[in-house]
Amino acid sequence: MIRSGKVGLRARYEDDIPILRTELYNDVVNAARAEGGPWRPVTPGSKDPRLVVDDPPESSVPFSVVELAGDTLIGTATLWGIDTHHRGAHLGLGLLPAARGKGYGTDVVAALSHYGFVVRGLRRLQIDTLADNEPMLRAAERNGFVREGVMRSSAWVLGEFLDEVLLGLLVEDWQPEARG
Ligand SMILES: CC(C)(COP(=O)(O)OP(=O)(O)OC[C@H]1O[C@@H](n2cnc3c(N)ncnc32)[C@H](O)[C@@H]1OP(=O)(O)O)[C@@H](O)C(=O)NCCC(=O)NCCS
Repeated sequence: MIRSGKVGLRARYEDDIPILRTELYNDVVNAARAEGGPWRPVTPGSKDPRLVVDDPPESSVPFSVVELAGDTLIGTATLWGIDTHHRGAHLGLGLLPAARGKGYGTDVVAALSHYGFVVRGLRRLQIDTLADNEPMLRAAERNGFVREGVMRSSAWVLGEFLDEVLLGLLVEDWQPEARG
C-alpha cells in the first residue's frame, strides 16, 4: 500500500466495486464532470474497464483509496496514460461524496505522485481538470503542480462547453514534505 497523510492506495477489491459503481460511476453529474466523456450506466457484473480487478492495461494503474484510520473505502485513484518513453503519466481521482472536502484529495495527489515518481521512475505528471473544479485545482497546487495552460471550451459537460486546465509537476520540482 502507498500511504500519504490520512489515505492509502491499495489494489481494487471485488467488494469495492458495488460501492464505486453506485456512488461514483452511476452518478450522472460526477461521471460527466470527472470522466472526460458522456455518462453511461454501469450494469452490475459488467467488466467496465474502470472497475475491473484484474488485467488492467500496462499504461494504467487503478487503485482503491482507503482512509487509513478506519480502513474504509473512500474512492478511486488512477495513474493513467503511463508513457515509459517520455516518462510521463496522468493522475485521476474521485472520492465518494461523503469523503470530499476533508483533505483526502490532497493526500491522494501526494500518494499518486509518490507512486509515479518514486515507484515508476517517471519525470513528469499531469492533471487535467475542469476549470471550475476548485477542490481539484487546489489539491494539485498544494502538491506543487503548476497551471500550464487552459484548453478553451474543450469539454462538453451536460449541455455546455467548459474550459479545462492542464497542470504539470516535474520530479525536480517535487517536494513531497512541503505543501504550499
Ligand atoms: C476533486 C476531489 C478529488 C478533491 O478532493 P477533496 O478531498 O474534496 O479536496 P480537499 O479536501 O483535499 O481540498 C483541497 C482544497 O480545495 C478546497 N475545497 C474543498 N472543497 C471545496 C469546494 N467545494 N469549493 C472550493 N474549495 C474547496 C479545500 O479547502 C482545499 O483548499 P486548501 O488546500 O486551500 O485548504 C474531490 O472533491 C472529488 O472526488 N470530486 C469529485 C470527482 C472529481 O471532480 N474528480 C477530479 C476529476 S479531474
